[in-house]
Amino acid sequence: MTTLVKNGTVVTASDRYQADVYIDKGVVSLIGQGLNLPADTVIDASGKLVMPGGIDVHTHLDMPFGGTKSADDFQTGTVAAAHGGTTTLVDFAIQNFGEGLYPAYEGWMQRAEGKAVVDYAFHMIVRELTDQVSGEMDKMVKHEGITSFKLFMAYPGVFMVDDATIFRALLKTRDNGGLICMHAENGGVIDTLVKEALRKGQTAPKYHALTRPTRAEGEATGRAIALAEMAGVPIYIVHLSCSDALEKVKQARDMGLPAYAETCPQYLFLSYDDYERPGFEGAKYVMSPPLREKWNQEALWKGLAKNDLQVVSTDHCPFCMNEPPQKQLGKDDFSKIPNGAPGIETRLMLVWDGGVRAGKIDMHRFVEIVSTNPAKMFGLWPKKGTIAVGSDGDMVLFDPEKETTISAKTHHMHVDYNPYEGRVVRGGPAMVLSRGEVIVDHGEFKGRPGRGQFVKRQPGRPLVG
Ligand code: URP
Ligand code: ZN
Ligand code: ZN
Repeated sequence: MTTLVKNGTVVTASDRYQADVYIDKGVVSLIGQGLNLPADTVIDASGKLVMPGGIDVHTHLDMPFGGTKSADDFQTGTVAAAHGGTTTLVDFAIQNFGEGLYPAYEGWMQRAEGKAVVDYAFHMIVRELTDQVSGEMDKMVKHEGITSFKLFMAYPGVFMVDDATIFRALLKTRDNGGLICMHAENGGVIDTLVKEALRKGQTAPKYHALTRPTRAEGEATGRAIALAEMAGVPIYIVHLSCSDALEKVKQARDMGLPAYAETCPQYLFLSYDDYERPGFEGAKYVMSPPLREKWNQEALWKGLAKNDLQVVSTDHCPFCMNEPPQKQLGKDDFSKIPNGAPGIETRLMLVWDGGVRAGKIDMHRFVEIVSTNPAKMFGLWPKKGTIAVGSDGDMVLFDPEKETTISAKTHHMHVDYNPYEGRVVRGGPAMVLSRGEVIVDHGEFKGRPGRGQFVKRQPGRPLVG
């Protein structure tokens, strides 16, 4: 199968030029001006920016959590991702207590196979680090292409591991070339504050945020970085939400340490004020870390512009408000509200509108933080994350003038609300290609469940500066 994308403006993290792009058997084989080659599909990309497909390195599809499971599976979630211009995602497989890493790996393979419409890879969440699991971390990196591991400093009894475990896992990555991704919140402090709030009868959704102070995230971020420094390895902080935590990353980077971090659109566009919405509305925004006071947003945008933050991912983890009533599990107790919110579909349009159009970042930095850096950080580059001869034909034909009113009525995510309901954004995908195949054409889905492929990632150190 061959595809020729003509007359577009190719935009990568480093370059911008008028060119035609020829994709043969899913891989870019020629880039040039005025290409006149026969192709099975010819696309006129006049007026469009031809960018590498989005890479979302933080999703939770079909994930068991808090007595229910996330509302998007690998089919609905990847269809929504495709509509939003994301052509590769990295989801989190979860080790079960009392088991090794292989059952989790196989379980997540089964979840994705036959369903995914875009390419996918996995990180592994490690909950118990026995000697056997330690050996399996090596095998994941060496044989299975799972080269990153998430650890939690929060959720005691569910996911949280102690500092000794964290340190041992970090040392493992020193030897096998993997990367530790850290959920950095001080679980002990938070658990105590939650119990205290509930004792006082403070049960409304806003207490989720009020019992998870920014200092708890800042402290854990600093500790995680210090542990990584002592182990002599890089570290990647996931879903960084606030200035307190960003300051720790900045300090470390100023010292020359290989500390990296992602933030997510929810922390750039939403705030604590959303918890003050009437009734149980605040439950829509219950996620961890929680939304912060609005002033933090400016600090995060600066962090993205100055490379103290390298990636914008989504932490897509949707739970329905009413149909079915998943968030309602915490109607009388905020600590029982399943944590997470949807976002897999809206990342590119939000970051373009709020970042590029607002003059906070340029279009090259946009490509870098939504595609190139995630690819480099997680061993997908240069197969993914750029437009170059030899790279996969994953592309977004981006229309900078396309206007979207974000709404649950029109989104493709399998969840009954949208946290950005009614927000109008300008700039979005007109067409989306995965390995040269058009999977979204002006809002119409053209892909097929099961066409998405598992991508084995490379081990090795992050290539991001
Ligand atoms: O609230 C969140 N973030 N839910 C997903 C799990 C996690 O910690 O990433
Ligand atoms: Zn997390
Ligand atoms: Zn997450």
